[in-house]
Amino acid sequence: MNIILLEMLACPACLPMEVPLELERAGESGDDVVEGVLRCRRCGGGYPIRNGVAVVVAGGPNARERPAGRYEDPSGLSAYLWSHYAELFEDPEATPAYAQWSDQMPPSGGIGLDAGCAVGRFTFELGLKCDFAVGLDRSESFIAVARKLARARELTFELKEEGRICSTKTFTLPPHWKPEKVEFIVGDAQALPFRSGFFSGVASLNLLDKVPRPLAHVMEANRVARATGARLLISDPFSWSEEVCAAENWLGGTLDGKFPGPAMENISRLLSGRSGVVSPPWKVSPPGAVWWKIRNHRNHYEVIRSHYVRAER
Ligand SMILES: C[S@@+](CC[C@H](N)C(=O)[O-])C[C@H]1O[C@@H](n2cnc3c(N)ncnc32)[C@H](O)[C@@H]1O
Repeated sequence: MNIILLEMLACPACLPMEVPLELERAGESGDDVVEGVLRCRRCGGGYPIRNGVAVVVAGGPNARERPAGRYEDPSGLSAYLWSHYAELFEDPEATPAYAQWSDQMPPSGGIGLDAGCAVGRFTFELGLKCDFAVGLDRSESFIAVARKLARARELTFELKEEGRICSTKTFTLPPHWKPEKVEFIVGDAQALPFRSGFFSGVASLNLLDKVPRPLAHVMEANRVARATGARLLISDPFSWSEEVCAAENWLGGTLDGKFPGPAMENISRLLSGRSGVVSPPWKVSPPGAVWWKIRNHRNHYEVIRSHYVRAER
């Protein structure tokens, strides 16, 4: 974990109280804390750093609320590495989705946050727009691979072709990318382990419909963003599923309840402050959409329309 992160961190178990974390028993290599424990002096909670990966989740690495789906297994890794980096190994099926999302985040100073970063593509994009960028995800295997890529600038991985047959792919980060301005951390987007008002740019791509408490995530994105001089990008296909999130917690896609109708409209209303929940209010731009692709194996792709909303304050 890059030592820069220490000043940003707050104990996720003590939220909404913001208690800094202190570094204990650290093994360091330059700016990189390779082994150690981040300790909360208030609740006594300890968050491990192993092989440079900090796991700052309330309840520890085995916390009860784990992400649903395939985010820790090899097929999920293959699918997301393809989705994020296929253009770098010149796969003809690659899409420009991440460049299109990146166009929605104009350059700014300060620190960027990519919540639910998976294997890190958009965090690298933020690293080109901000002074420093942090990628956060609940999956330890995704974060370990993203860190490895940032350090080596190159990655070799197994891409699933069919059944147990894989091909080996190697790709290199483009020379103008700045992985030295990027760090990755394991955390929960519903209880972000950061101080309030720290980030000049916050992105949440394709995450809202994957968490059990999407409103908590929106409120956390709002909390950690600066009160002024901040940009927010939320994009999601709104594939609501009761396996992930009880229907009463969906932010849209229902006929009644707290958030009836399309989620994009409800999120725009929330951010603009009209619901009286989000403060200070955001100036919300008209929504747009990006076509995005995930590759499960060589004959199975998911083509997804992800609706985005951009906001500034
Ligand atoms: C559909 S993927 C989207 C990944 C990436 N943002 C993108 O657009 O390519 C959802 C990601 O959210 C992560 N995730 C799920 N629940 C989470 C949580 N509570 N906190 C942080 N990340 C979570 C998963 O591990 C996965 O990487």
